[in-house]
Amino acid sequence: MLRRRLAVLASGRGSNFKAIAASCRRDDFPAEVVCLVTDNAKAGAISVAEEYGIPCEYVDAGSRRGRLQDGAEEEIVRRLREYEVEFVFLAGFMRILRTELLSAFPGRILNVHPSLLPSFKGLHAQQQAFDYGVRVAGCSVHFVDDSVDGGPIILQEAVPVEDADSCESLAERILAAEHRIVPRAIELLASDQLRVEGRRVLGTDD
Ligand code: GAR
Repeated sequence: MLRRRLAVLASGRGSNFKAIAASCRRDDFPAEVVCLVTDNAKAGAISVAEEYGIPCEYVDAGSRRGRLQDGAEEEIVRRLREYEVEFVFLAGFMRILRTELLSAFPGRILNVHPSLLPSFKGLHAQQQAFDYGVRVAGCSVHFVDDSVDGGPIILQEAVPVEDADSCESLAERILAAEHRIVPRAIELLASDQLRVEGRRVLGTDD
């Protein structure tokens, strides 16, 4: 079967990257991770790449939190082209993309965010939801556009908040939900099942 060429960009622990890499080992999964790109030389994601035999590329994105320094995005695009990447998944990549990646991979970049968008965009979304007192938290996988956490939503999973929850216990259940919807969204995208009509993404029904 044809496997679409996927790159994962990650800055941290790499648990979503691991969920993706594990799914890609399935015989019937329509994508393979051809490389990991990280902006953090100490990212846990690097040892996940080693465990799964996936090449890892480190790109120095500078020290400005949340922003990519000049030239970094061009460098990422250059390396992704070397791997003939078709799709890009941002799995905890904590930098805001500018134009180079978006124009190199139009409609082909996905992100996971730990809230039910459009609520609680930005950093520490689980803490924002917990502090707000929502009864239902969750996570979203969406297409990336030039807004922050604002592109068309592909999948979401709701996570009820229990009386006994701490922010940590809630974040743990949200993360488990991320590990379900992230591979599923990739599967849908890589098998050409998704259609975007304005803000609506169709083709996700089971
Ligand atoms: C995940 O919870 C992901 O949703 C979040 O970073 C975490 C990365 O964990 N991303 C964002 O907040 C992006 N705005 P991981 O490294 O274990 O996959």
